[in-house]
Amino acid sequence: MKSLPRIGTVGEFEFVVEEKHVIDFATDGMPPVLSTPNLIALLERTAREALTPFLEPDERSVGAEIELRHFAPTLLGARAVCTARVIHAEGREVTFQLEARDEQEVIARGVHKRAVVRIEQFARRVGRKSVSADKAIRAPTAD
Ligand SMILES: CC(C)(COP(=O)(O)OP(=O)(O)OC[C@H]1O[C@@H](n2cnc3c(N)ncnc32)[C@H](O)[C@@H]1OP(=O)(O)O)[C@@H](O)C(=O)NCCC(=O)NCCS
Repeated sequence: MKSLPRIGTVGEFEFVVEEKHVIDFATDGMPPVLSTPNLIALLERTAREALTPFLEPDERSVGAEIELRHFAPTLLGARAVCTARVIHAEGREVTFQLEARDEQEVIARGVHKRAVVRIEQFARRVGRKSVSADKAIRAPTAD
């Protein structure tokens, strides 16, 4: 890392709930609302982008832990804002407090940890895993 982010460093991401963000079970009168996995993805992206200026060009941050309470539904077409605030930074790990609000209320709160990795080391680790996955798939046909 170029430097550790200061406590209180904040990232924000404003968005409008589109079709691609809503639940896939909005049938029989169930309203089309922002899905929890999409909300998590947008909050995680907010944290990742807040951390980017602190990284070296050969580094990326990866999601390591997330805990979220989704308090209130948000309808298709509504505007919402995700906020990620650094509450702890030590070594290669950064912890964020997450919050999302729509035009009426806070809709979610949580805590999220990201780990900073060197692309080359991370790719090597993933590469080793792909090789063993290959072997696992080939094993039955080899007999
Ligand atoms: C899960 C859900 C149905 C539970 O509803 P419920 O049983 O009526 O519970 P409430 O909404 O009264 O509140 C649950 C908790 O959230 C808290 N809460 C609710 N709205 C809140 C808000 N805007 N800000 C902060 N906290 C809030 C309540 O204080 C309560 O806390 P507690 O458990 O510590 O007492 C409701 O929270 C909800 O609709 N969440 C969103 C679900 C959603 O849209 N999912 C995506 C689509 S599947």
